[in-house]
Amino acid sequence: MTTALGSDWHAWQESWDRQQEWYMPDREERFRIMLDMVEALVGPEPRVLDLACGTGSITARLLERFPKAVSTGVDLDPALLTIAEGTFAGDDRVAFVTADLTDPGWPALLPYGSYDAVLTATALHWLHREPLEVLYGQVAGLVRDGGVFLNADHMVDETTPRINAADRVQRHARMDGAKSAGALDWAEWWRLAAADPVLAGPTARRFEIYGEHAEGDTPSAEWHARTLRAAGFAEAREVWRSPSDALVLALR
Ligand SMILES: C[S@@+](CC[C@H](N)C(=O)[O-])C[C@H]1O[C@@H](n2cnc3c(N)ncnc32)[C@H](O)[C@@H]1O
Repeated sequence: MTTALGSDWHAWQESWDRQQEWYMPDREERFRIMLDMVEALVGPEPRVLDLACGTGSITARLLERFPKAVSTGVDLDPALLTIAEGTFAGDDRVAFVTADLTDPGWPALLPYGSYDAVLTATALHWLHREPLEVLYGQVAGLVRDGGVFLNADHMVDETTPRINAADRVQRHARMDGAKSAGALDWAEWWRLAAADPVLAGPTARRFEIYGEHAEGDTPSAEWHARTLRAAGFAEAREVWRSPSDALVLALR
């Protein structure tokens, strides 16, 4: 039997984190390195755009580590934004914007015209390469000179199919083990949200928008770096990687 979490935003955050960690056991490490790079390049009081913010996972870690930071979260999912807005209610360092990142007009909806850092995690693989190229052009226009963009996501090196296959087998064996021990996967987590009196409405709307989730591409870290340079960033490269994922940093 599951108990409804209602408006216990802390419990929703915990539950979201556990579900995401089922896929990415090194999720916290990538957030830590992302924030290390923010501090190294733009300092400890950044104005941040949390791109495709979901429940505001990056914003929460940002403010925990840098209390003088400010953050704008942008996303399209009404259920995840409900959790994000509930979590940060009354915190004037944080604002949320509902927008579709494939809509050409989304940057105009933001409260600021430029940011020290644009940060994103586990999200841009929902987009195909062509809309992502357009998005990278828009992001380049939002990052101030000397500012940074960081993207942590699934990034597949297609030159190493046997290594990728072996990694996948091992990862899935670990996930199966964690599942037997009670971990929730994506579909089960959304069933919990759909059955909750507070989240049922926004969850129904998010399924109308996305279905299960959008289909996109998972190009290599090299592709991301090259595309970011073409979009106007001065330098771009991988700053962290696991067998399946990478964190790409681009400097404006
Ligand atoms: C797996 S979640 C990751 C959320 C958060 N960054 C995290 O690490 O927990 C992917 C997010 O990307 C958002 N997203 C995907 N495509 C989008 C689009 N076209 N416009 C706005 N948000 C989008 C989804 O709504 C979802 O919140």
